[in-house]
Amino acid sequence: MSYDIWNRRYTGSKYKLAEWIVSLINKNCVGNSFCDIFAGTGIIAYSMMHSVDSVCINDFLFSNDVIYRAFFEDASYDAAKLESIKEYYLKKDAENLSDNYCSKWYGGKFFSHNDAKIIGYIRDNIDSLRHEINEKERNILISSLLYSADKSANTVGHYDAYIKGKEIKNRFTFDLIKPYNTKGKRIIISRNDANEYAKKLKCDIVYIDPPYNSRQYSRFYHVLENITSWNKPNLYGEALKPKPENMSEYCRSNAPVAFKNLIDTLDCQYIVVSYNNTYKSKSSSSRNKITLEELKNILENKGTVMVFSKPHQYFNAGKTDFTDHKEYVFIVKVGD
Ligand SMILES: C[S@@+](CC[C@H](N)C(=O)[O-])C[C@H]1O[C@@H](n2cnc3c(N)ncnc32)[C@H](O)[C@@H]1O
Repeated sequence: MSYDIWNRRYTGSKYKLAEWIVSLINKNCVGNSFCDIFAGTGIIAYSMMHSVDSVCINDFLFSNDVIYRAFFEDASYDAAKLESIKEYYLKKDAENLSDNYCSKWYGGKFFSHNDAKIIGYIRDNIDSLRHEINEKERNILISSLLYSADKSANTVGHYDAYIKGKEIKNRFTFDLIKPYNTKGKRIIISRNDANEYAKKLKCDIVYIDPPYNSRQYSRFYHVLENITSWNKPNLYGEALKPKPENMSEYCRSNAPVAFKNLIDTLDCQYIVVSYNNTYKSKSSSSRNKITLEELKNILENKGTVMVFSKPHQYFNAGKTDFTDHKEYVFIVKVGD
């Protein structure tokens, strides 16, 4: 098996809605360039690649940036070399490895002790290969490690907490991701704050899927961010998080202002916005920072708005009761 881009657990991933969203875009928008400005897993950018020649993919997380480069960048890599590195990793026996940064912090918590040892060993090894692999190969190896580690993590799908009170089994096995052939397409990958990026972006269709509640992605996925950056910082608290970085305005009470600024700034023909109605949620961390009314008003100032909706079962780690959950897509024909 090798990993496709959607083979990961990610809060708010539109994987199950991608076909619906892309069919709405293809029916209602005209253009040859597309930007996924809060790209997350990258599944919507991936799904649009067949429809347009130029795709911009942006998200401010380090781990997502490496993953997009690994899957989409049109650069050469030696598949046989990567297979032989994979075989080398698979032969490693955790029992014979010494402790490392990853096992010291995450062992017996986010991963079994032995799995954490192998993950830390592989990450160090990728750095030590710097003279033998090119940038694309390095991105593929790090992304493969992230997908493989996520499969074995002792969590409910994010890293805000690990599961306690149960034996953690050794589950880790290294596998490679499957990079896509993007020859002939113009792929632009960036790791920017969306509002800053919007100032220099010129594109026909922009897809917007920001976080709508107080859950910060950099805190939810801190383990993957840490394994990617590999600066080995001290970690704090029960969930072993590093110092805050990449905190989003969209998760704060200022979200409606940030959203309005983004929409006002965008220079494009169509704006496509995903939204769901968890703003009614009983749990305050799941409650939306932008209401449906606020969102509609902001979009209506930019052009003619079409609204589409469908019922959807949302990712839920257990605490929140989402009944009558609806997923919305707004399409704005700018300037009409
Ligand atoms: C709801 S998720 C997007 C999910 C994505 N559509 C998918 O299907 O996987 C929101 C994303 O926005 C990113 N994000 C949050 N605030 C941001 C900001 N100010 N600039 C850029 N990215 C941001 C988060 O890292 C997260 O990946």
